[in-house]
Amino acid sequence: MLDAKLARKEKLIFVALHELFFAFPCALASLPLGVTQLILKLLNPMTKYIVATVDEIPPGERKVLEVAGRTIGVFNIQGEFFALRNQCPHQGGPLCSGRLTGFLTATKPGDYTYTRRGEMLRCPWHGWEFDVKTGQSWFDPAHMRVRAYQVSVETVAPVEEEVGLEKGPYMAESYPVTVEQSYVLVEI
Ligand code: FES
Repeated sequence: MLDAKLARKEKLIFVALHELFFAFPCALASLPLGVTQLILKLLNPMTKYIVATVDEIPPGERKVLEVAGRTIGVFNIQGEFFALRNQCPHQGGPLCSGRLTGFLTATKPGDYTYTRRGEMLRCPWHGWEFDVKTGQSWFDPAHMRVRAYQVSVETVAPVEEEVGLEKGPYMAESYPVTVEQSYVLVEI
C-alpha cells in the first residue's frame, strides 16, 4: 500500500516536471548546469550508442555524426572523449565543425596566459566559444551552454553472427579466438 502511494507520488512529480520544463524550456535554461542535467536524466532515461572505435578519433580530432535523430560532435581531447550537440545556441550554426582553440586570460593589457589548448570550440558562424568538456559558454556562463552528452569508452567483443552457412561432417581442431575492440559510446 505504502509502495503504491510512493509510486503514485513519483509519477505525479515526474508528470509535473515534464509539463513545467517542456512548457517553459527557459526555466530549465536558467537553472545551474548540475540541476539541469539531473532533471533531464529523470525525464529522459538514457540509451548508450556506439559512435566510433577509439582509433577512429585520434587526440585533437573529432567525428560529427547523426545519432538518434540529432547531429553531435565527438571530440578526443588528449585521450579523453567528449560529445556536444552540433547546434549553436546562438543561431543554430554547425558548432562542431568550428575551430578548436584555448583559454585566454589576462590580468592587465599585454599580460595574458594561454591555457587549455584545444579545449574551447569556436562556432564557425559568429565566433561564440564553448568549453568542449562541459558545453559551457564563456561570454555568458550562467545562462548559455550547448548540450553536452555523457561519453564512455568500453571494450566489447564483437557478437558472433550467423552467416547462413551449414556445418559439414568434418571438423578440424580449432582454438577459441576473440578480437576485442574499444568503442566510444555516447548516452543520449
Ligand atoms: S550561430 Fe554560432 S555564434 Fe552565431
